[in-house]
Amino acid sequence: MNTIIAPSLLSCDFSRINEESEMLNNSSAEWFHLDVMDGVFVPNISFGLPIIEAFRKCTNKVLDVHAMVANPDPYISDFKKAGADNFTVHYEACTHLHRTISAIKSEGMKAGVAINPHTPVHLLNDIIKDLDLVCIMSVNPGFGGQKFIENTYQKVRELKALIDKNNSSCIIEIDGGVNLENARKLIEAGATALVAGSTVFKSENPTETIDKLRG
Ligand code: DX5
Ligand code: ZN
Repeated sequence: MNTIIAPSLLSCDFSRINEESEMLNNSSAEWFHLDVMDGVFVPNISFGLPIIEAFRKCTNKVLDVHAMVANPDPYISDFKKAGADNFTVHYEACTHLHRTISAIKSEGMKAGVAINPHTPVHLLNDIIKDLDLVCIMSVNPGFGGQKFIENTYQKVRELKALIDKNNSSCIIEIDGGVNLENARKLIEAGATALVAGSTVFKSENPTETIDKLRG
């Protein structure tokens, strides 16, 4: 499967969202990664529905919403209405994960589950067949610009094996500290979608960086 690059808009200049979106629209990036943080599940507050709506007006590309939210269930249909295509919730935040995933799919969105660095891959055993995407967090969620956790490669290989064993069509996304050094190794280990915030938006030439991340 071709690698998907998903720049994280958390690192963009929010006073220039039209220009930042235009840059991504003219780049080879497939997805816009949008990090929603509630100040409860993670120790930071980012943005919510109005910003998703704003980006929806700026692009036809896939809006990949990453909900770092303690209780996402009441907001699932609101995110669909705001324009989300993919909706990823955290394993650690959902008591009734199967119900949450079913609700996301019944809204017509792709359903994802993100796992924190301390959460083992095998806990997804009984849900993997129902998922469109698993996001392996390669940093502790909450902030851009953190250092990549090396144990991620092993988790990608384990997740790939779990997906293959279950004949699942789920794809593997990596989020946090992705850069030009680790991107190739992540793709080789089985990752399909790479989220990159600071690597893209802090680079001299973001469009070229997106191409380089693809390898
Ligand atoms: C972290 C977010 C990431 C973040 C990635 O909690 O989920 O998507 O924006 O930023 P970088 O690529 O700078 O680590
Ligand atoms: Zn994210």
